[in-house]
Amino acid sequence: MVGGGQGAYIGNIHRLASRLDGQWQLVAGAFDVDPQRGRDFAIAQGLDAARSYGSYQDLIAGEAGRDDRVDAVAICTPNFTHYPIAKALIEAGFDVICEKPLTATLEDAVALEKLARESGRFVGVTYTYSGYPMVHEARVRVARGELGAVRTVQVEYPLEWMSTAIEQSGNAQAAWRTDPKKNGRGGSIGDIGTHAYHLAGFVTGLKLESLTADLATFVGGRALDDNAHVMMRYQGGARGLLWSSQVAIGNSNGVRLRVFGEKGSLQWFQEQPNELVFTPLDGRVQTIKRGADDLSEDAKARTRTPPGHPEGYLEAFANLYAGFAEAIRARQEGREPGPLGQNVPLAYDGLKGVAFVEAVVDSHEASDQPWITPVAV
Ligand code: NAI
Repeated sequence: MVGGGQGAYIGNIHRLASRLDGQWQLVAGAFDVDPQRGRDFAIAQGLDAARSYGSYQDLIAGEAGRDDRVDAVAICTPNFTHYPIAKALIEAGFDVICEKPLTATLEDAVALEKLARESGRFVGVTYTYSGYPMVHEARVRVARGELGAVRTVQVEYPLEWMSTAIEQSGNAQAAWRTDPKKNGRGGSIGDIGTHAYHLAGFVTGLKLESLTADLATFVGGRALDDNAHVMMRYQGGARGLLWSSQVAIGNSNGVRLRVFGEKGSLQWFQEQPNELVFTPLDGRVQTIKRGADDLSEDAKARTRTPPGHPEGYLEAFANLYAGFAEAIRARQEGREPGPLGQNVPLAYDGLKGVAFVEAVVDSHEASDQPWITPVAV
């Protein structure tokens, strides 16, 4: 692992989720921007002192020479460091699991996706919400035609944690997220809008044609948007509306997806992740529960506990890690991946997210609010 050291937000989720199925072991790390703090943290995690590195460059140099070198490296650092770290790892022959957004700039995302493709290295992206079993169930049901042609998609990702200027009072996570050089051009849209955009495309299979966006910065002194509304036109005629907000008081993590087709609709809400609500045209609302016998193989392959025993965020993250392990093994063994290794988010999905952010900010900044087509869809 690179990043995710003492006091970091997402690193520990990676550690917990990667271990859940016993497929991964954490054996080496450069956990912190501060070399000594990183080494101390590694040793406190029980790692061998020889594999407790002070920097990602040291990790690459140290691991490259070992017979038991790491299989893959998870990058859990702020956005602007993803590209240099991923590039160095791929060039040294390591597979990579990268946090979202793939990079801080479109130029870096295009270069990283190309490097991943041409090198043949595995580059997975942790779009967490695509790990939930009931999100897979929704994807399968849309693909089977249970909704008919999709007409409109409403996706939202509201959070409340940046409703005040916490970046000015020492909150480490908010500080780099509000610095355009470290975060990238899109504030809420880059940080959480990319999750929502991926979720909508993942479930519906729709590709974006063009978008028009309106960004707002409500908290004084903040350099990036903390609220975004994006209208989307999908190829084939479907429409979409995406809302991301870091100032939506009352929302801890309110990711919500609603898909409306010509024969019915589906709804999924991440704070009740074990349920998918299906409403056919006749209005008989059905709550489809995780663990039911007649769910898709895709959902079953990602289900751990029996019906009624709740699963959630950690397990969704674990499904990404289990999927990455299966995809890497299948490649090593020259075979097609099984169900868990299918439909995992890859570098191109990461590029699409960054291209989306670029198009959103371009649209917002254009005085006449034109419709803009992202460079990757
Ligand atoms: P954070 O600020 O809490 O932690 C960053 C960690 O990276 C710190 O330990 C820091 O010392 C370390 N670091 C920074 N530069 C480094 C370098 N050059 N070498 C080694 N370590 C370095 O950040 P947070 O909130 O955990 O976000 C990290 C990434 O994860 C971001 O890209 C963010 O967008 C993403 N994220 C994804 C989530 C998801 O649901 N998939 C949720 C939260 C964050």
